[in-house]
Amino acid sequence: MSAPSRRVLVVGGGGREHAIAWKLSRDGAEVLVAPGNAGTAAIAENLPIAADDIPGLLKAAQSRGVDLTVVGPEAPLVAGVVDAFRAAGLRIFGPTAAAAQIEGSKLFCKHILHRGDVPTAMFQEFRSLTRAREYLEAREDMPVVVKADGLASGKGVFVCGDRAAALEAIASLGSDPQFSKAASGVLIEERLDGREVSVMAITDGRTLVTLPPLQDHKAAYDGDQGPNTGGMGAYCPTPFVDAALLGEIEARILVPTLHAMRRAKVPFQGVLYAGLMLTQQGPKVLEFNARFGDPECEALLAMLDSSLLELLDAVADRRLEAVAPPAWSDGASVTVVMASEGYPGAVEKGLPIRGLEAAAQTEGAVVFHSATRFADPPKPGAVLSDGGRTLAVTARGDSLAQAKLRAYSAVRAIRWPGAWCRKDIADKGLNFERQAASLIVEAAPSPAEPQP
Ligand code: AMP
Ligand code: GLY
Repeated sequence: MSAPSRRVLVVGGGGREHAIAWKLSRDGAEVLVAPGNAGTAAIAENLPIAADDIPGLLKAAQSRGVDLTVVGPEAPLVAGVVDAFRAAGLRIFGPTAAAAQIEGSKLFCKHILHRGDVPTAMFQEFRSLTRAREYLEAREDMPVVVKADGLASGKGVFVCGDRAAALEAIASLGSDPQFSKAASGVLIEERLDGREVSVMAITDGRTLVTLPPLQDHKAAYDGDQGPNTGGMGAYCPTPFVDAALLGEIEARILVPTLHAMRRAKVPFQGVLYAGLMLTQQGPKVLEFNARFGDPECEALLAMLDSSLLELLDAVADRRLEAVAPPAWSDGASVTVVMASEGYPGAVEKGLPIRGLEAAAQTEGAVVFHSATRFADPPKPGAVLSDGGRTLAVTARGDSLAQAKLRAYSAVRAIRWPGAWCRKDIADKGLNFERQAASLIVEAAPSPAEPQP
């Protein structure tokens, strides 16, 4: 007789949640997703409950006998979904509202980093835009980054080459009602230069499991040009972080941050995501997130051979130290985000997407849905676009080059009017690998001359 399957609720409706649901269902769980999308419907049951409807989620978890809830996006975490579930005696994976402030408030994050002596950009905080402006005017002209304190879906950050650009950023924070709440505090930071990488760890607050390093692609267009986005693609692992550097990141950044949070009486449980700049002086924190990155999660989970369910369960029960370390595939994975015309601005939705089945036939590929829905009334096989970042086309391969080739051949099978993607996902990693290989060839002794 087989064991009864576990029932897990995944909160969210994007590519990250599709990847989590996909992996959990491969681990043998029966998965519900709220609200999900057309992709999650194929492997799980979608519940028509918004990700931020905490009472609705709680009711569903109780009435459906859910024994573990996994939260994808930051908004419900910051709004206290974990606190509400725990108060009701339900098991849930993620940080409390207080701990999620590590992402929800950039000032809180900086204070924790300061307490833990964790390397990060120097900064000044301001409680008013006027003060921030005065500070900029009184200082020498140099590159800075202007950040609104609160959550602004990645749009409250302005990387500025000079004072004029920084003053413009302050002005736009002042004039845009979207920022009025987020801009009640403002940070002006030194601009860091280097390579950007993402390192995530799963933690129950005491034990920490560091996950393979990834690189995201935040700019909209090839060559890192254009506006900032939620992320246009990722690959795993990135060669920019070798085992020694990953150890340093764990010891100097992740562990001290966890300790500082515990000392501040906000112990963190869930996924701690460090956005890092690899500078000349070593890795420095750009930001922390309180959840899996998206699209990093898609590329990461494609590489996970052992059970995700077991890890998440252990965190919920605070016994992560008793679980064997996760096992990862050899080789690499690449996720290419396919976006709708106009993203990161306004987009047209409801366009039929063709070629999904053909794409899924590509060796090593999985097509995660980021923003899709079915036609209403449903038509068999008809999947419609439903947002900016629409699909997260992911492939594994024996090498990074093979994973990239497979991901883009799956992309080529998919069509909808105006669909586009970056063409250079993983190229920085591939170039680095090529340069490293050519150095090895140069350093190798030349073959001995044949003896007469
Ligand atoms: P954040 O939301 O704080 O991660 O910022 C979004 C993006 O802005 C980051 O992914 C970086 O590309 C960039 N950024 C943020 N802070 C800095 C900094 N101090 N120096 C250079 N770039 C930064
Ligand atoms: N990919 C960046 C993030 O999830 O914040």
